[in-house]
This record gives sequence, C-alpha cells and structure tokens, in this order.
Amino acid sequence: MLITNLGMLVNTGHHQHPLRGAAMKAMACIPNAWVRVHEGRILGFGAMDTIDTSNTDEEVWDAQGEWCFPSWCDSHTHLVFAASREEEFVMKIGGKSYAEIAAAGGGILNSARKLRAMPEEELYEVAAQRLKELLLLGTGAIEIKSGYGLTTDSELKMLRVVKRLKQNIPIPVKATFLGAHALPEMFKEDKEGYLKLIEEEMLPAIANEGLADYIDVFCEKGFFSNEETARLIKKGAAFGLKARIHANQLSASGAVETAVANGAVSVDHLEVMDRAAINALAASTTIGTLLPTAAYFLRMDFQPARTLLDAGCAIALASDFNPGSSPSGNMNTVVSMSCIQMKMFPEEALHAATTNAAFAMELENEVGSIAEGKLANFFFTKPLSSLAYLPYAFGSNLISRVMLNGKWYSPLAISGE
Ligand code: NIG
Ligand code: FE
Repeated sequence: MLITNLGMLVNTGHHQHPLRGAAMKAMACIPNAWVRVHEGRILGFGAMDTIDTSNTDEEVWDAQGEWCFPSWCDSHTHLVFAASREEEFVMKIGGKSYAEIAAAGGGILNSARKLRAMPEEELYEVAAQRLKELLLLGTGAIEIKSGYGLTTDSELKMLRVVKRLKQNIPIPVKATFLGAHALPEMFKEDKEGYLKLIEEEMLPAIANEGLADYIDVFCEKGFFSNEETARLIKKGAAFGLKARIHANQLSASGAVETAVANGAVSVDHLEVMDRAAINALAASTTIGTLLPTAAYFLRMDFQPARTLLDAGCAIALASDFNPGSSPSGNMNTVVSMSCIQMKMFPEEALHAATTNAAFAMELENEVGSIAEGKLANFFFTKPLSSLAYLPYAFGSNLISRVMLNGKWYSPLAISGE
C-alpha cells in the first residue's frame, strides 16, 4: 500500500543508540511525503517529488495533508489489574498520602486482593478492553508488569494474561515480572520468606513457561531495599531476565545507583533525584523513564526532566498506567504534560515517547521511528500547523486514524477481536 500526500512524516530514520543531549532536540521530518507499506512493515518513504508510482496494482491512500507519526511506545505500565481504586483517590483528596494509604492495607495490597479474586478469563477481558482503548490513542508497543498477584498462582495468572495479550493484540508487548512490588500480608513478618518464594518458586515457574522478558523491583523505603533489589536483579539474570526498576519515586534512596550498577535496562519514575543519582544515570547506558502522570496524580513534584536531559541522561517517557498512581494510559497526555510541566521541548518529548521508549523495551528494530523494515505502526493526525501543536493542544484528540502492522484500525474494528 502507498500512502501519499502526507503533510508531514515525523521522526524518520534509524537510530543506533538511545538519544541524548542535543540529538533529542533534532527530529528528522519530511514535509509533503509518502510512505509505502508491505506485509505489515515499512518498505520505503520520501518526499512526494521522489515517488515511484510504476506499480499500478498498488492500493493508494491519499492522506490529504494528514500527519503521520510513529506510534507511541509505552515502556512502563501495570495494565493488567482487576479494579479501579477511586475510593483511594477520594481519600487522597481528603489529605491521606500514598504511603499512608499503602500502610493501611490500601494501595498495591488492595489491588492484589481484588486481582486474586478475579478469574483469569475475566482479568483477560478487562485488560484487553483497556489495551484496545490505548491502540486508538496511538500506542503501538507496550510493556506490561505483573505485581498485583503477590502469590505464585496470581503472579502466573497475570503473566498468562499478558501472554494472551501478546498473542491477540496487534502490537509488540513486553512482559515484566514484578513479584517484588509490595510485601504481601501473609509475609508481613517474614520478608526473607517472600524473597525466597520469588527466587525459588515464582522465578523458576515463570522461566519454565517463558512468561516474562524482564524483572522489576519496587526499590523504595518501606518496600524493597537496595540490597534486596541487587539480589533480585542477579537472580532474575540467572533466569534470563534483564532488569527494569522502579527507582527514586518517593525518596532518593540509592535505587538508581543500585539499578545502574547492576546493569538495568531502565530506571523508572525518578521523581526524587539527588546529584549522585543524576551522575550515575548520566554516566550509564541505562535509560531513565519518566512517568509524569504518576507525579501529577499523586500531587508530587514532577521529575526533573530538564536537569536530567541537560546532564546527558537518555530519557524515555511512559504512562505507568495503573489503578493507584496513574489511572490513564494516554501517551498524548504524557507527552503534553512533559512539555508543559517539565519543560521538555516538543521534539525531546516526542523522541522520549517513541525513539527512546522503543530502546527501553529493546524494540528499537521494530518500532520507535519511521524507518525501512520497522513495523508499519503509525498514528495519523489532522493537518497540524506545527509539531509543537500536538503537545500544545493538550485537551484535543488530534488522532484521526491508526495503522498497526499495515492495517487500519477504527473504533469499530477494535471493539471486536
Ligand atoms: O508505578 N510505585 C509502585 N507501583 C506503581 C503504583 C502501584 C499502585 O499504587 O497500585 C507505580 O506508581
Ligand atoms: Fe509503575
């Protein structure tokens, strides 16, 4: 299929490494462009005056000035959950903190109770419905974590749901095992017992069924320590799982340094950064993934994106979609919020949510930019006055249509399977 008369083809070309510094501000775009798609992948693209129309059998779609973007890459979500938690949302309005709610058995443990009670089939249905909604918001690759099971059976149940999503939903999905998300009630007085359960029962079972690509740990005061995090990263590696770590969300606890020293692919959150954490991240190949909608929802200070970018860190953006701290997987909102509240330039935010987020999922050869051989996963917008208009118009849905693997998706097609 040939798509002609695109007002703009955004973020073209292969990127060899995650982008940093000045490279984040440079975005290759082709005005008045075409793109050719074959068997679900990008076959070629260029300016309209370079087009070859010798193949007259080809299906042609005239985009009439619409803009074409590489799909959003959402490299951090907890999309599989049983129920929303708006009662905690109201408690927070009344003055309770995230940590207070968690300590009172709310938070992650609340989600774990609800998830254990939900049959796998139903859990799949609610998760698939959520994911289908995200496809129409432009998401074209996603990472999904476990961590609301906290028993072997329920962690496996979550990861099996992710596996079915991988099979049935037409975008790349990466699965992350987050057994160390919180200490379950049963192990309240026996943290060592829970760590052993993760190491000796959960990890072998997950590896045996090939259910995870990564291991994650919520490295934070009151959750899992730096030592425990390092220990679990090493154990995960023994089962072939690389690490991506929840770090520096609530405190500068040394989590970033620990994760970087242990070769994590990504450190995520980074609301509370000190000099040591910034330096460690900047000097590493680990990607720093910022989750601004979580900071927004918890009324915390936003991640210091400007400082991190200017220090030369490789920065990605993700939604953290989860019922407790970011009940939205809308990457358009994430990108807008990053420009408005964290002073990321539009090009930087776009690269962070496409190019670098693809690297954060090790999917840089499949998605993240418009390049030959990559998946034809795009979202299209109405003709825009400039690139900056996309994050600027934060309340508008500018997406007119979505293509995934070279196929069109409309709201109707997506509500079926
Ligand atoms: O990324 N920080 C830990 N985990 C989630 C929140 C989980 C929850 O509250 O359910 C997060 O923000
Ligand atoms: Fe998270």
